[in-house]
Amino acid sequence: MSTRIVIVGGGGFGREVIDVIEAINAAAPEPLWELVGVVDDSLAPDNRERLAKRSISYLGTADDFLATCGGPVAYAVGIGAPSVRRKVALRFEEGGHSGAILLHPSATMGSEVTIGAGTVACAGVRITTNITIGRHVHLNPNVTVGHDTSVGDFVSLNPSASISGDCVVESGVLVGVGGIVLNRLRVGQDAVVGGAACAVRDVAPGTTVVGVPARPLGQR
Ligand SMILES: CC(C)(COP(=O)(O)OP(=O)(O)OC[C@H]1O[C@@H](n2cnc3c(N)ncnc32)[C@H](O)[C@@H]1OP(=O)(O)O)[C@@H](O)C(=O)NCCC(=O)NCCS
Repeated sequence: MSTRIVIVGGGGFGREVIDVIEAINAAAPEPLWELVGVVDDSLAPDNRERLAKRSISYLGTADDFLATCGGPVAYAVGIGAPSVRRKVALRFEEGGHSGAILLHPSATMGSEVTIGAGTVACAGVRITTNITIGRHVHLNPNVTVGHDTSVGDFVSLNPSASISGDCVVESGVLVGVGGIVLNRLRVGQDAVVGGAACAVRDVAPGTTVVGVPARPLGQR
């Protein structure tokens, strides 16, 4: 029997999450997920059209949905910004809904890996051994996470980001497209590692670092 699921956010990543659901269903003997539709507080007209083309229902704003849904469903938040995702997920949790773990069939997980509710792993993700991934983490296409690393709640690892072994990536961190964190480093809560940056030292909480080697934005 399939589980009913809604996606919160109909922008680019929200629609990529729908692709993950479709790939999971296609790989299973019977569909695992029944996509009820998309919830979005400000769905842009072009995204509404894209959903309509795929016959995916728009379910209204989060307020509309939470007031009328009539019972718990699974959900995933397709919003890239960690702070926004955190707020939205907490509202859905308070409403009694549960975060779905969505792992694309081509994503690989090694031994001793734990993954929190609401986390999405896209095509080509590689998670090796002894790794903890928190709740509502976005692992975009081709992300790699090396051995003995922990990734906190609401982290966004954008496409092809690479986190090396023995790292701690605290909650709310965003690593931009192609960003690298070298081994044994700690990236502090709500920090940002810019696209194509290479972190070679710990990153302080709330700091944005860019470049190779990565340095805080104000100090380049
Ligand atoms: C690091 C980042 C968050 C900074 O965003 P921002 O605070 O809006 O910064 P701005 O665009 O105003 O740029 C500020 C300065 O940093 C530089 N800069 C921005 N991002 C940079 C990066 N990734 N690498 C090197 N320099 C960068 C800009 O050139 C600018 O330099 P200047 O002051 O000399 O003109 C952003 O640029 C980034 O890399 N985001 C990740 C994007 C991503 O992953 N996209 C994929 C989505 S799936």
